[in-house]
Amino acid sequence: MKGIILAGGTGSRLRPMSSIVNKHLLPVGNYPMIHYALDKMAEAGIHDILLVIGKPSAGLYVDYIGSGASWNVQVSYKIQECAGGIAQALGLAESFVRTGEKLLVLLGDNLFEDSLKSFVKDFETSEKGAEVFLKKVADPRRYGVPDLQNGRIAHIQEKPEKPPCDYAVTGIYLYESDVFEIIRGIRPSARGELEITDVNNVYAGEGRLGYRLLSGWWTDAGTQLSLQEAGLRLSGNKEP
Ligand code: G1P
Repeated sequence: MKGIILAGGTGSRLRPMSSIVNKHLLPVGNYPMIHYALDKMAEAGIHDILLVIGKPSAGLYVDYIGSGASWNVQVSYKIQECAGGIAQALGLAESFVRTGEKLLVLLGDNLFEDSLKSFVKDFETSEKGAEVFLKKVADPRRYGVPDLQNGRIAHIQEKPEKPPCDYAVTGIYLYESDVFEIIRGIRPSARGELEITDVNNVYAGEGRLGYRLLSGWWTDAGTQLSLQEAGLRLSGNKEP
């Protein structure tokens, strides 16, 4: 299985800190944020990893990560020239993945406790086209939220005003290689981005979207408050 970490974007909610360096390089606990996604990939047994990054700060990623040797993995880099949404960033990884190969995708600002090792192993032999990971959250309106019917995801709503449940679809995804075909078929949303939720909804519509619940803590570190929360957790404090 291939690994793809999406670490582009402008990090507008973390300005002014993210005006100096890309948000995925900001300190969380004892490391820059990006360190943890690489840890999770390596721990899950994924050795071939593509990092999608923006042009500003690109050199800093290379300075810190290099070839990936510190994680015992092989890291390649792809530059996202302009931010066009998560699905657009993922689309840039197409040449990195062979037809029939599966992929684990992590949003670089998602920090979490669960190991992905068993999920990755199970997905290798799964018939599902894609799998998402859900976590109960206090404010689901900030996230993609699943509409669960008869034990499966019927549809995902992106940042709904009236969430159908209090689960967030986290930024951890498993896909078959046909995800790139699906990305080519979707159109920009009202905010002008290619949405990963629209990609996942194609799988849901075809009855090919599975899900798992995360049992440990999870946070996206995209806002000042959640960045602080993640820092406390990853410094060893379980309850910020
Ligand atoms: C993105 C996804 C959303 C998901 C979230 C997880 O939102 O669009 O579905 O719940 O990541 O972090 P964004 O952070 O880009 O607003």
